[in-house]
Amino acid sequence: MSSPYTIRLFGDPVLRQMAKDVSDIDGKLVKVCDSMLETMYDDAGIGLAAPQVGIQKRFFVYDFGDGPETIINPTITESRGEWLHEEGCLSVPGLHWEIVRPKEIHITGYDLHGNEISLEADELEARLFQHELDHLDGVLLLDHLDEDTRKAALATLRETLLDLDGSRAKAQEQEKRGWFRSGSGGLTLP
Ligand code: CO
Repeated sequence: MSSPYTIRLFGDPVLRQMAKDVSDIDGKLVKVCDSMLETMYDDAGIGLAAPQVGIQKRFFVYDFGDGPETIINPTITESRGEWLHEEGCLSVPGLHWEIVRPKEIHITGYDLHGNEISLEADELEARLFQHELDHLDGVLLLDHLDEDTRKAALATLRETLLDLDGSRAKAQEQEKRGWFRSGSGGLTLP
């Protein structure tokens, strides 16, 4: 069984572009979000941003275990504190880093009914929202690393992605190992 979408990987220019605001919340967007959620669940993810499936629009889907949610045209209006935690990304397969981000945020946007959303989020939830919002701005995890760590990461990624040799199988396998790795206490954000 294949997912409705193929998750775009590091090196794909769509991941580096600024996504545009959604202008219409309609049945077409609902269908796209359903397909993104299916893709996300297939990859054992808890969040997925539109650019990761090649759509240059500002929305993302997520599920913290309370059912599927969508945030459209999100804005982080406040952020507080600092929190260091391990973080990965399905578009940057097989790699995880400790990254500092604000611990608490306030996020606003719209849901698929066009209703306004206004949420306080903490720790993992706050991190997921910041991570997905980064995707909408063309920002990847690597941009949060210091120069030496980033150089090492790029070297590893070049090998990983070259090894793919046109096939995504290996990266997906590595990513899944990362996700299910026991005892890491880490979080893979798609
Ligand atoms: Co990601």
